[in-house]
Amino acid sequence: MSDPQPAARRVALIGTGAIAHAHAQAVIDLAPRVEIVAVVDVDAARARAFADRFAPGAAVYPDAGALLRGEHLDLVHICTPPQTHVPLAIQALRAGVPALIEKPTALSLAEMDELVAVSRETGVPALTVFQHRFGPAAVRLRRLLAGGVLGRPLVATCETLWYRTADYFDLPWRGRWEIEGGGPTMGHGIHQFDLLLSVLGPWTRLSAFAARQALPTDTEDVSMALVEFDNGALATVVNSLVSPRETSRLRFDFAHATVEVEHLYGYTDADWTFTPAPGHEHLAELWAEDASDETSGHRGQIAAILDAWDAGQVPAAAADDARRTLEFAAATYASAFRGRPVAAGEIAGDDPFLRSMDGGAVPWGPAPSRQEAHA
Ligand SMILES: NC(=O)c1ccc[n+]([C@@H]2O[C@H](COP(=O)([O-])OP(=O)(O)OC[C@H]3O[C@@H](n4cnc5c(N)ncnc54)[C@H](O)[C@@H]3O)[C@@H](O)[C@H]2O)c1
Repeated sequence: MSDPQPAARRVALIGTGAIAHAHAQAVIDLAPRVEIVAVVDVDAARARAFADRFAPGAAVYPDAGALLRGEHLDLVHICTPPQTHVPLAIQALRAGVPALIEKPTALSLAEMDELVAVSRETGVPALTVFQHRFGPAAVRLRRLLAGGVLGRPLVATCETLWYRTADYFDLPWRGRWEIEGGGPTMGHGIHQFDLLLSVLGPWTRLSAFAARQALPTDTEDVSMALVEFDNGALATVVNSLVSPRETSRLRFDFAHATVEVEHLYGYTDADWTFTPAPGHEHLAELWAEDASDETSGHRGQIAAILDAWDAGQVPAAAADDARRTLEFAAATYASAFRGRPVAAGEIAGDDPFLRSMDGGAVPWGPAPSRQEAHA
């Protein structure tokens, strides 16, 4: 007799705005392994309309406290603006419920450390949405690199060149240090450099610049960093919201091959190219071996979480791991605003860049008010 089908994992979504649609569709695609049993939004009408569309049987709650008292859950998806992420996640962990938190996980390293501490104390995982780590080509790239066939990583480039108009910042939480945590470094490029870090591992030091070139934000709209990794690789990282021809691009030059991806918000295998170095042509076959047409998206990461749980493992992108990516963002700001290189681990103790990404050292003033910007 075959094993009975395991019961569906019970999940709830907190926040039913734009990105919650991607979470809900991913859960629906993964049925019957998982189901949405409840949703929460401070905007009750939005929550009700969302439940009617994606999960007609789901309960609708006005706040996270009511949700956590009312339901037995396997996971809460935190799809709210960034300044709410850690307080909501800690509420869930203390109720014994793992949290899958939209990026950026936290507004600062200090807030992240609070989350890491509660996750350790409760033994309940806090996971960050970094969906591009989980696309089939990224998984294959890490596997081939770990297997030694690509040779030593030598140089890499990582670019998030996106375009946002002033209207994009009409949402009151966007472009504000105290609510969004930062500009394209924290909110947009973080996906690409998380993927870079997931491939190249720990970094040693970086030197960065940041500027507000054109947009009505308090935060930067461009940043760039030169990075040295523990394994000796060198990389550049560019995060921009002022680039009319938009692209997301990563390139890795290993001793035996160049591996590249160019996409916008999600890639398939078709967006990657693999160029073996002379004498290593056989590697192209290894790269093509397990070709897939899956897009790097929320479904891939949620499927990886379910797979890990089924195998009795802790899923990837847990809080102490996601902290490395947040530290990279903090170091980018600290280096840019202090005008000197920053080493990994250096932002600690009473360093103001531990407490906020702006470190109280932003060299430009606050944005003009929204009314002034539109006058
Ligand atoms: N992973 C990705 O590719 C990706 C893409 C876009 C946005 N995001 C992230 O997703 C998060 C949400 O972004 P969005 O564009 O969906 O925002 P949004 O403003 O469209 O939606 C946020 C929702 O949360 C609700 N909300 C706010 N505070 C709440 C609270 N305390 N309890 C319950 N509901 C609350 C709001 O009413 C709103 O409906 C942000 O952190 C953003 O950076 C991630």
